[in-house]
Amino acid sequence: RGHLVSAADLTRDDAVLILDTAEEMARVADRPIKKLPTLRGRTVVNLFFEDSTRTRISFEAAAQRLSADVINFSAKGSSVSKGESLKDTALTLEAMGADAVVIRHHDSGAPHRLATSGWINGSVVNAGDGTHEHPTQALLDAFTLRRRLVGPDAGLGQDLSGRRVTIVGDVLHSRVARSNVHLLHTLGAEVTLVAPPTLVPIGVEHWPCEVSYDLDAVLPKSDAVMMLRVQRERMNAAFFPTEREYARRYGLDGERMARMPEDAVVMHPGPMNRGMEITAEVADSARCTAVEQVANGVSIRMAVLYLLLGGSESAVTNYRTEES
Ligand code: CP
Repeated sequence: RGHLVSAADLTRDDAVLILDTAEEMARVADRPIKKLPTLRGRTVVNLFFEDSTRTRISFEAAAQRLSADVINFSAKGSSVSKGESLKDTALTLEAMGADAVVIRHHDSGAPHRLATSGWINGSVVNAGDGTHEHPTQALLDAFTLRRRLVGPDAGLGQDLSGRRVTIVGDVLHSRVARSNVHLLHTLGAEVTLVAPPTLVPIGVEHWPCEVSYDLDAVLPKSDAVMMLRVQRERMNAAFFPTEREYARRYGLDGERMARMPEDAVVMHPGPMNRGMEITAEVADSARCTAVEQVANGVSIRMAVLYLLLGGSESAVTNYRTEES
């Protein structure tokens, strides 16, 4: 069985196949009956050790739309709170016949451990691990970018060559930024990170991107600007700059947005800190794709589950929908 642990593991062709399969899945969502019988009899377990709204719900919707059985496991209220280990939790899920385990964990590397441990036979999908990676978020971001900057049908088979994407904010704590830098580079985009010096990770010079500390200088050269959530829960008291200074220098407001090219889009993975990294005016503007990203997340997660659990390359055409 295959796994999806890191966006860095994907080749350009892997990534384009997932994006193209997600386009087929998006067409299913437009039908009166939104289900395919593709994964009937399969079991997908959502194993969440950390809070989530978008990722957990969209994996659940994705599995259901493919007719899989879904088991939702949250560490809160489970025997994890009694000290049960990841290994024993995994063995329990294996005994229940999980074909895929979608895992979010506070420790970087937990999905890799699960995928390589031999504790389970099913596919492992990383739904966000510590500050490491969030590959399906990067895929849904790339899908959104391709739709907006290349076009849905015109985009089939294509990557993001030459598109300029700026990722702004708390890069240090962001698994979304790390996955996006790798995937967007693989897809041919030019990525620039903009962050306060205190929120740039050590070793960033080895990442395939540029780094800038001047948001206003980069905005006019951006086809998309991805704002990151300031992750105060992962910071100690020494967080610098102050919140007010952060918003002033690195926050996106209407005045700053006006410096972007006319067709450029604003992205945010959610959840947002309105008034901190993004103002309500920008978040609610037509240029902000945050809600569209959530909808696209279902199509991407359908594509990932479909491809990992044995789907052929043409996702929909080989299957009759339940409506037909
Ligand atoms: N973008 C994202 O991962 O959101 P959740 O934490 O709500 O899943």
